[in-house]
This record gives sequence, structure tokens and C-alpha cells, in this order.
Amino acid sequence: MNLAVFASGNGSNFEAIVKKIKKGEIKINSVVLVCDQPGAFVIKRALKHNIRVILVSRRDFKNRDDFETAITERLKNYRINLIALAGFMRVLSPAFVKKFKDRIINIHPSLLPAFKGACAIKDAYDSRCSSTGVTVHFVDKEVDHGPVILQKEVKIDRADSLASLEKKIHLLEHKLYPQALKLFIEGKIRFKKGRVCFINF
Ligand code: GAR
Repeated sequence: MNLAVFASGNGSNFEAIVKKIKKGEIKINSVVLVCDQPGAFVIKRALKHNIRVILVSRRDFKNRDDFETAITERLKNYRINLIALAGFMRVLSPAFVKKFKDRIINIHPSLLPAFKGACAIKDAYDSRCSSTGVTVHFVDKEVDHGPVILQKEVKIDRADSLASLEKKIHLLEHKLYPQALKLFIEGKIRFKKGRVCFINF
């Protein structure tokens, strides 16, 4: 099983996944990082763990198709079975999603379908609701949408600041994402009528 992690920024989820692979808790033959931001901290994390980096900056291409074609070309040598989006702040085209059908997984910091978009934690915090959460899901043609693999609630306490809520969410993400990837890699996920079900979970 060969994994490509796509990330644009800090890369804490990327590193959480890599640590589980290094401990042997997730059985992966090779990992490569695909990053669209030349200055992203996730690149430093990848180099620290000796993980190869494919840097494809959107600014170098005139449109999304060319950008995605470049990614696909550069991934060819890696024989990728699974793509994990970990803070990859670009919307992939339906054509790209189709190419890797049921093999692209995303993590989102809310209980989808609530609080889609790039500021999900702040949106939930500002809404004054009593809970939010984390969702790991397969990617389909819509943004922050697709069959849910794992989803877990996080309480928003009165005493929470935005920073403390972010911390709680990220801590949960670092557990939930490796857990969901492990289920996929061990062949424990099946689809029934567009929904995910588990075998021997
Ligand atoms: C994570 O909270 C992830 O859920 C979110 O970006 C953050 C990346 O953090 N993704 C989305 O909002 C996708 N819509 P990281 O770079 O430290 O892993």
C-alpha cells in the first residue's frame, strides 16, 4: 500500500500519520508528501522524517487542470493506492476525484455537514453551539462532502477560547485520522448504498 498525503500548511496531521506508520501501527510501504505551498511547515516535517516531497505550486500553472495533471504525472512513479488530504486547501476537480475514485480521504474539523469550509473551527466557536467535532470521510465531487468513515464530537465548554478549542480538535484529529486510514488499509471498509460500513470493526 502506497500513500500520498496532500497538505498545504502546518502538517500536524501529516506528522501524526507518519509517526503511526513509523511505529508499524499502520502498514504502508511508502509515503510521499504532495504540497502546493513552497514555504509550508509541512515540508520541514517531511524532511525531518526522510519523506519525499512533491512540490507543485498552483502559481506555476495557468489553470487547475494543468496543476492536477502535473500532480498526477509526478505521482505515477509512486503507484499510489490511497490519497489522504491533510489540510490541503485546494478543491480537487471532479475529474481528479474520479481518477482516484473511493481512494481519496479527507479530514475536516467539524461534524459534517455542519461548518464546511476553510474556517470550520472558528465558525463553530462563533456560532456559540455547544459542540463541534471531527469528520474523516471519502472525497466526492462536492467540497467537504462524501461518505463518512469516522466522526467524533468535541464539546465546546463555556471556558473555551478559540485557541483551546483548536487544541482539542487537533488532538482528536491526530487520533481519528490514523485510525480511519488503518481501517482502509486493512480492507475493513465497504460501501453499501453510498454509505460506509465496516468489517470486523
Ligand atoms: C486540520 O484541522 C484539518 O482538519 C483542516 O486543516 C487543518 C490542517 O492542520 N482541514 C480543513 O479544514 C479541510 N476543509 P495541519 O496542517 O496541522 O494538519
